[in-house]
Amino acid sequence: MCGIMGYVGSQQAGPILVDGLKRLEYRGYDSAGIAVNNGTIRVQKAEGKIANLQALLEKDALDGCIGIGHTRWATHGAPTDANAHPHADPSGEFVVVHNGIIENFQAIRDELAAAGAEFSSETDSEVLAHLVAREYDGDLVAAVRKTVALCEGAYAMVVISQREPEKIVAVRKISPLVIGLGEGETYLASDIPAVLHRTRDFLIIEDDEMVIVTAEGARVETIEGDPVVREVTHIDWDAEQAEKGGYDHFMLKEIHEQPTVIAETLQGRLDEDGTVWLEDVEFDDEYIADLTGVWITACGTAYHAGLIGQEIFRRVLRLPTNVEYAHELRYADPIIGPRELMIAISQSGETADTLAAARIAPDHGSRMLAITNVVGSTLSRYADDIFYTRAGPEISVASTKAYIAMLIAQYLLALRLGAARGTVDSELAQRVAHGLHRMPGAIEEVLSREHEAVAVAERIVDADDVYFIGRGLDYAIAMEGSLKLKEISYLHSEAMPAGELKHGTLALITDGVPVVVVLTQRAVYDKTISAVQEVKARGGMIIAVAYDTDTEIEKYAELVMRIPDMDDLLAPVAAVVPLQLLAYHVARLRGHDIDQPRNLAKSVTVE
Ligand code: G6P
Repeated sequence: MCGIMGYVGSQQAGPILVDGLKRLEYRGYDSAGIAVNNGTIRVQKAEGKIANLQALLEKDALDGCIGIGHTRWATHGAPTDANAHPHADPSGEFVVVHNGIIENFQAIRDELAAAGAEFSSETDSEVLAHLVAREYDGDLVAAVRKTVALCEGAYAMVVISQREPEKIVAVRKISPLVIGLGEGETYLASDIPAVLHRTRDFLIIEDDEMVIVTAEGARVETIEGDPVVREVTHIDWDAEQAEKGGYDHFMLKEIHEQPTVIAETLQGRLDEDGTVWLEDVEFDDEYIADLTGVWITACGTAYHAGLIGQEIFRRVLRLPTNVEYAHELRYADPIIGPRELMIAISQSGETADTLAAARIAPDHGSRMLAITNVVGSTLSRYADDIFYTRAGPEISVASTKAYIAMLIAQYLLALRLGAARGTVDSELAQRVAHGLHRMPGAIEEVLSREHEAVAVAERIVDADDVYFIGRGLDYAIAMEGSLKLKEISYLHSEAMPAGELKHGTLALITDGVPVVVVLTQRAVYDKTISAVQEVKARGGMIIAVAYDTDTEIEKYAELVMRIPDMDDLLAPVAAVVPLQLLAYHVARLRGHDIDQPRNLAKSVTVE
């Protein structure tokens, strides 16, 4: 996720901006830049690490006491010098940094181009500088307000102008923005750690608010221009806590970011009626109608996301769908037809096995669609079509928010493919759209019940083995829950379909052995309960993930982690969250290094 920095005061802005950007490095980025005004605004920016920007500034420092800076995590356009922020209008008098996505940027860009505008980047952000310049009529705040009225999406944007050199004007629509208050100087940042060593007094800007920043302080208004009274927030966290947003670990922070990640991954892609818009997916209805099958390949957590995709595609598209571990598929000599679509899923887009398996597709004349979180990753470069999840950089090795975003991607793909194949009618499309749009709220609800996962963690922390069971989509979630637990708590765990238990593993169920059952699939509920009874009869300890209204499970379970009632098809998105929290809390109680588990790497770029 991009980082934003701003400064106005009596010191040189350049070093303060660069220092702030460096403190935001943990958010991940692929280019960086700053703009400083001393009568004329000058910009320096560079692809890659902040050191590249610093090298430019060493040769040619930017003089001035007001400026803005940015670290970019590419979304529209590759990570290049030209696409790096800040972006200026053609006169260079209006300069913008931006975090987030302008959904209707192509329409705006086309309109500006038709009026003769030339662009120096491929970004959605550059249109903002053009618009502010066009709308400027002697009042920068009014020009920014008019610009915001023309833009759809979720973003934060920050503007400086030569015409009004004493101020920074910023807007927040979902993407975070804070103001740091100093003595005769004021800071602006996307995140508190950027300036926590300079001030502990902050104004937290809320959605749909605008802030006008000068050396003397900041004035907060609504986007419509009504004054807002904002109390100063005094922050006591230390720098490390601040990077983690006040959470003890990145994993917990990332689990709690999931409602936002879902909203961002859906942003601009799903209408209320279930119509899906995918910007980097090029295939057409004819291609979709002719499909005879789907292959999904991935590793680790991404593979578990693929298991959910497989079930959804089979159910919703009635299309044969195989999911294979990439390290297996690459040597399996698979029979893939030219009318089968290959979907490769990878958070990083750099997993060696996934890249190798994905490359099988063109050998068989089939298209390859990448679901990845990293714009410009190797996988995205190999792909014919791309679905970029918008989870932002994931720092914890154990994947959580990236997984949730992969699920959302596959629901959207299922709707898109199903509409073209005629297997998704308007009733189903609307139902799924409705459920997905409500999902951020549902996940907030699950997160508010974290104490339930803590209670389970306290019960199983000393267990030797934990088993996870479920059927259908619940089995896929059980797989992911088990993986999460073992990778960070080092507790042995295993997942299996509920019906498989009696074919072997039941021999291991004795007094007090924990068995976690996922119970969201109503069509097979009774069947799963039979397995629960088998466990119970051997003295096993039943722990359940179940809907709020499921009272039946109370007969069997010692502890239940609840999720709100919802459509069974979408339930995996909610059901995984208590299991992520369970893994986290077991690992915490066991005193492990949660964000960096032993022997594991975030991205496995070797075979
Ligand atoms: C590693 C990570 C896992 C991840 C897997 C696949 O094993 O530790 O969290 O799921 O790689 O990574 P990818 O980037 O391809 O999704």
